[in-house]
Amino acid sequence: MAVSSLAVLGRGNALLDKISIGGEDRLIPPLPGKIDGTRGGLSKHGKFEGDISMTRLDAALGDLAAFQFEMYKNLLTPTSTISGMGISSPQRFLLSIVPTSMEHNPLLNWHVGRLGFSYGEAGFILELLRNCTSLPPSPSHSSHPLSPLTPTQPKPGHLTRSDMSSFFIDECFPPNWWRRESPFEFSDIRDAVDYVQDPYPVFPGRKDADGVYVLETREMNSFLGSVCAIYYDLFVPNILAVLLKTKDQRKKNMNKYLDGMFNLFEPLDCPHMFPEGPAEA
Ligand SMILES: *[C@@H]1O[C@H](CO)[C@@H](O)[C@H](O)[C@H]1NC(C)=O
Repeated sequence: MAVSSLAVLGRGNALLDKISIGGEDRLIPPLPGKIDGTRGGLSKHGKFEGDISMTRLDAALGDLAAFQFEMYKNLLTPTSTISGMGISSPQRFLLSIVPTSMEHNPLLNWHVGRLGFSYGEAGFILELLRNCTSLPPSPSHSSHPLSPLTPTQPKPGHLTRSDMSSFFIDECFPPNWWRRESPFEFSDIRDAVDYVQDPYPVFPGRKDADGVYVLETREMNSFLGSVCAIYYDLFVPNILAVLLKTKDQRKKNMNKYLDGMFNLFEPLDCPHMFPEGPAEA
């Protein structure tokens, strides 16, 4: 719910409860007076779509929406550069793409919320896309849920390459695939982020006008250091403040989306936050 709320608030028409899951679409009208320019849809860069992802290029470096087969191949292929570290595919892959973006993307924006998405994808891929297991978890089970992809032998409860390709390339559910046996909670995503990030920490930040990567500070995000920093970055400067000035049914829609985000962060002791973003041309 939080992710959909963010998507509709950031890139859809929250007043009409509509969003394009691709690019701009004539079926999704812009906000009145185009106060936010065109809504663009999910694939428009900046509010929902962001830098450093597994199979898409950074917006400043090429086609941000097109599946990149080379990246996908690299995600599945152990690299020699960082081999021998005993790390899983997404960890290794992120280690290889982060420096590329740092070096080549002059507009890189990797605020703490976006960084969470970049790392959270690893958890989505391995934990959410894996086939259900009918086996009860064994207490001596030592491998972390984000253990490496099983290359050849499909094991229940693991993500196989062919299942992964079904999702990524064919954009279909794999045959004989069952969803995981328990809900994939925010805490699972956070565990995944920590697991992938901890051995080789990188820090949130963005490129300045001179192309220097400047680390995010408490002046930019006073919640830095807590999970509420993610909520702040994705929501407060990012979402249009003027959306709050709606009435009646539209106000109800807005509140539903505002709560959609808040409900995720409330149990983590974050305060209720409100959009403060500027209108865009
Ligand atoms: C996926 O899990 C279900 C339930 O355990 C099982 O019946 C099915 O055979 C599995 N599919 C594959 C491809 O392993």
